[in-house]
Amino acid sequence: MVNDDMPERVLLVGFMASGKSSTGKELASRLGWDFRDFDTVIAARAGKSVSRIFSEDGEAEFRRLESGVAEDLLARSNTVVASGGGWPAQPGAWKMVTENTMSIWLKVSLAVAVRRASEQGPTRPLLDGEGVTEQAAMLLLGRETAYSRARYSLDSEQYGPPELADEILKLMEREPDPKAKK
Ligand code: S3P
Repeated sequence: MVNDDMPERVLLVGFMASGKSSTGKELASRLGWDFRDFDTVIAARAGKSVSRIFSEDGEAEFRRLESGVAEDLLARSNTVVASGGGWPAQPGAWKMVTENTMSIWLKVSLAVAVRRASEQGPTRPLLDGEGVTEQAAMLLLGRETAYSRARYSLDSEQYGPPELADEILKLMEREPDPKAKK
C-alpha cells in the first residue's frame, strides 16, 4: 500500500468545522502515523484554551503562537497535521509547507460550516456572538485563495471522515504524480 515516494506528512487545511481533526485522526490511525492538531498544541503550550488566548491575549498573540506550532508540526515525519482554519491565510504560512508535505483542502460550504460549528458549541472565538453567518461568510471569502494553494481538494460535505481518509490514502499511493493535481 505504501510506496517509497510517499509524502512524509499530510497537512489538512480548510474552514472551521470542515472536518480536519476528525478526518486527520481517522487517516493517522489507518496509516499508523501520529496525529497533531494545531489548536490542541497551541492550547497545551499556552496552558489555556484557544478561546481564552483570544479573549485574554488577543488574536495577534494567538497567531504568533500558531506560527511557532506550525513550524514545529510541519517538520514532523509520519504525521497527519490539522491546521487551524485561519492559518493558511497568514503571511508566510505556505512557505512552511515543503514539497514532501501532501496538503489537502477539505471543502465545506458556508451553511454547513456554520451549522456544524454551532452544534459543536462555543469553542471558536471567531464564530461567537451576533451575526455569525455574516462573519463566517467574510472569513471564508477572504480565505478561499489561501486554501486553494493546497495540492488537492476534497468535498468534506458529502463525504465523512472514513471516505475522506480512503480518498487521501488513494492519493498518497499515487504520489508523486505531477499530473495528479486537484
Ligand atoms: C480559527 C480557527 C480555529 C482556531 C481559532 C481561529 C480561524 O481552528 O484556530 O479559533 O481563524 O478560522 P478550527 O479551524 O480547527 O476550528
